[in-house]
Amino acid sequence: MLCEAKYIDNQKTLISRMRISTEMAKAINDQISYEASSATTYIAIGSWCERIGYDGSAAFFFEQAAEENGHMLKLIHYLNGVGAEAIIPAIEKPPSSFESLESTFQFGLKSEQTVTKAIYDLVDMTEKEKDRSTYSFLQWFVNEQIEEETLFHTILQKFDLLGKDKLAVYQIDQSLTSVRSQVMSKQGASRQV
Ligand SMILES: [Fe+2]
Repeated sequence: MLCEAKYIDNQKTLISRMRISTEMAKAINDQISYEASSATTYIAIGSWCERIGYDGSAAFFFEQAAEENGHMLKLIHYLNGVGAEAIIPAIEKPPSSFESLESTFQFGLKSEQTVTKAIYDLVDMTEKEKDRSTYSFLQWFVNEQIEEETLFHTILQKFDLLGKDKLAVYQIDQSLTSVRSQVMSKQGASRQV
């Protein structure tokens, strides 16, 4: 009983030290879940690509997974830093096989669009709550999502331009090592203008 009372006291102290609202902490924890789920899904896609022999795409999706993991860590550090509690989520099993290489990028684009919407909802919430700290923190994610969506659009455009026969798909797979750096340098240049 004493232990329980002490635990409740500790929780109360922790909540009183939080520099964001409990609703905001919950919403950011939900975002941690999205990022963790994206990371796991990209690993599953990368693994499928590796098994099939799409080596360029496998490397691309494994790197994408590492980025999502990085996003999740950023959110965890932020929550812990403002005195809230970051909750590490359980993740649902992702799909293990895909229809085609193109479908994996369509899947990726859809997933990024969902994450972008979630980030925008979070930004809306910071504006409503006048939470300047979280608003400022989230600007990095807003820019990152523009980059992520552009990346997937650029790759899907290659399927439209080159076609979907075996040779075209092979060429697209091989070109993926450079596409990320091309998109990032273009985005970087547009931000400097
Ligand atoms: Fe992300």
